[in-house]
Amino acid sequence: MTGRWMTERGLRVDEAGLEAMAGALARVLEPGTVLFLQGDLGAGKTTFVRALLRALGWQQAVKSPTYTIVESYPLAQFTLHHFDCYRLADPQELQLLGIRDYFDGDSVVAVEWPDKGAGYLSTPDLVVALEGSGASRQLQWQACSKRGERLQKAFDCAGKAR
Ligand SMILES: Nc1ncnc2c1ncn2[C@@H]1O[C@H](COP(=O)(O)OP(=O)(O)OP(=O)(O)O)[C@@H](O)[C@H]1O
Ligand SMILES: [Mg+2]
Repeated sequence: MTGRWMTERGLRVDEAGLEAMAGALARVLEPGTVLFLQGDLGAGKTTFVRALLRALGWQQAVKSPTYTIVESYPLAQFTLHHFDCYRLADPQELQLLGIRDYFDGDSVVAVEWPDKGAGYLSTPDLVVALEGSGASRQLQWQACSKRGERLQKAFDCAGKAR
């Protein structure tokens, strides 16, 4: 991804570290934010979103949206829509789901496998990438908008503190 705001940072994290980074993001997340989550199967994308939701106060179950494509969480602050595009046979299926209604400018949208929804998703503010297996992961983040820059700074600070 290229763009004026492109910068990429990274950190090696165990699962607790990943959850702490999600917590740092939760503190600065604002309505309308779009997050893309990159990484292979089992990289930790859902684990990250689950930790984000926990940090935002969601106490009920957080299921992977692998089969449902989207799970929505009405939080006190905003609604968070969690998409997983992995099982889409065609990105156009997102249109049938009424995808535009989810990107309403008030909700936070987090998308796993965004490449499989190409053409139907809004551009992200922040891309979070996870790589690796075993107990540790390489976590990277990249701002793609002015809003994303703010989020990136929060990640930077939390990363430095670890
Ligand atoms: N450092 C770590 N960060 C994230 N997950 C970890 C870490 N160490 C171990 N894990 C485990 O790896 C698994 C990650 O699974 P998760 O469902 O989050 O992956 P995913 O990227 O969402 O995969 P998919 O593309 O299939 O949806 C979990 O079982 C989690 O407990
Ligand atoms: Mg997942």
